[in-house]
Amino acid sequence: MIVCWDINLEAAQETAKEVEAIGGKACAFHCDVSQQKDVELKAKQVKNVVPHIDIIINNAGIMPCHPFLSHSIQEIDRCIDINVKGCIWVKKYFYVFYPITFYFKTKMVSNTFCVHISVLLVVFVKCLSM
Ligand SMILES: NC(=O)c1ccc[n+]([C@@H]2O[C@H](COP(=O)([O-])OP(=O)(O)OC[C@H]3O[C@@H](n4cnc5c(N)ncnc54)[C@H](O)[C@@H]3O)[C@@H](O)[C@H]2O)c1
Repeated sequence: MIVCWDINLEAAQETAKEVEAIGGKACAFHCDVSQQKDVELKAKQVKNVVPHIDIIINNAGIMPCHPFLSHSIQEIDRCIDINVKGCIWVKKYFYVFYPITFYFKTKMVSNTFCVHISVLLVVFVKCLSM
């Protein structure tokens, strides 16, 4: 079973249909990973659908592409809320609702968190050296 999560429910449903078209099982949920309560609620709902999780692709993200200084405060906040905190909420609530399998079996692909933490670290180190 593949559980598709997205803030864009139609896109998640489309992906689920594609999985079913090639013989797999899938379902779709709306979830805004930047909202801690929403992630908690949807992780709880997923627990009623699938007993354990093998792989989490934890890579919902946005990437406004402008020169560094032209990013608005709102864009920066949204990037942090989705790309960084969103990854943390997903990890947290799957850990909460699937403690045993999460700890011992679940694999998580979480590229945005790593990418953005590295970017933050580089910025932090650069600030320290100024
Ligand atoms: N594709 C690349 O070459 C590349 C390279 C480096 C980093 N990244 C980063 O990796 C991440 C994923 O990349 P991608 O190419 O799959 O991007 P994508 O835009 O194809 O997919 C991201 C998905 O996240 C969803 N999303 C956005 N905000 C959300 C939210 N608040 N809650 C739930 N879902 C939300 C979007 O609707 C979209 O379906 C992004 O953060 C991107 O910046 C991508």
